[in-house]
Amino acid sequence: GHHVSSQRIRFQRRNMPCRYDIDRFTPSFLSIFESLVPSQEEIAKQKQLLTSLSRIINKEWPNSKLYLYGSCANSFGFSNSDIDLCLSIDDKEMSKVDIILKLADILQAANLRNIQPLTRARIPIVKLMDPETGLSCDICVNNLLAVVNTKLLRDYAQIDRRLRQLAFIVKHWAKSRRVNETYQGTLSSYAYVIMCIHLLQLRRLLPCLQEMEATYFVTVDENNCAYFDQVDKLNNYGAHSRDTVSRLLWAFFHYWAYEHDYTKDVISIRTGRIISKERKDWTRRVGNDRHLICIEDPFEISHDLGRVVDKFTIKILREEFERAANILQFDLNPSVTLFEPYVP
Ligand code: CTP
Ligand code: MG
Repeated sequence: GHHVSSQRIRFQRRNMPCRYDIDRFTPSFLSIFESLVPSQEEIAKQKQLLTSLSRIINKEWPNSKLYLYGSCANSFGFSNSDIDLCLSIDDKEMSKVDIILKLADILQAANLRNIQPLTRARIPIVKLMDPETGLSCDICVNNLLAVVNTKLLRDYAQIDRRLRQLAFIVKHWAKSRRVNETYQGTLSSYAYVIMCIHLLQLRRLLPCLQEMEATYFVTVDENNCAYFDQVDKLNNYGAHSRDTVSRLLWAFFHYWAYEHDYTKDVISIRTGRIISKERKDWTRRVGNDRHLICIEDPFEISHDLGRVVDKFTIKILREEFERAANILQFDLNPSVTLFEPYVP
């Protein structure tokens, strides 16, 4: 039946070579990348906002510290994206929700706009808009693992520029095709960046920083976060490889469409390898974690970034990977067709 024949196609495409003229499209993909990168001016505004909010919050809580995390600090952010901030504060008297509510009062008194404390969200935050810079941001409390994984992503991006090029295009594809919506059961931007890092590790364009001798160590909620962070010493690491962003894109989608073994494999940038679901005991559904596509978080290793994906959205995702792989293989204008908006 249908299932058997699609399996056969899958098998045949496993070893398909990349189209010979793929590099014709490199200039178009690079110009899409350039158009998404935030300007220096925008980055300066983000820093300015961090400074002014830190000053306001430190008056009330002198021992607290405000960090930028997420896309505006991990170097994978598009222009005009929202800003994620994390307030680190050691206050044993107050619950997270109390801190959020007090923070909202402090910001209100300092004339910030559109302040909304969201205390019932999975990660409680305060939303606000700064009238000086016009920027909107979300502040969470004591989510330090996110601050540390932000640094890991930023450090990887410094080793080889092709990581950033690939990840921007993959994120742009995922947003255009509406498969970057965790509340709808598809993957986070963070998960897509991890998938890109993993591919470049397998192709020896990137090392595995967590397997190298650690130069950076922190412990966050019992998780040991340690890795080699002197990445300026590694900026020749991938120089042997002539892979272009087009070829990497082809490889990325070909891998997720035809090569990844969804029944057995977990991708892991912590080890730089594919590890087995069996070994992690991720072979069956536990509570809400279905493990239909397995992406290990680099520090919180019991956390599967694919756990948001369910039996309906895994189908959507895999069809989108196949669509993208086929476009890169056959389409005459892949740098346009790839991003055609999904119309329900
Ligand atoms: N994060 C995390 N675990 C997740 C999802 C997110 O720790 N399962 C943290 C990461 O530090 C990530 C940040 O939250 O960098 C923001 O996540 P996300 O919104 O997925 O990524 P952004 O890089 O902000 O992407 P976008 O441009 O789509 O906003
Ligand atoms: Mg974000």
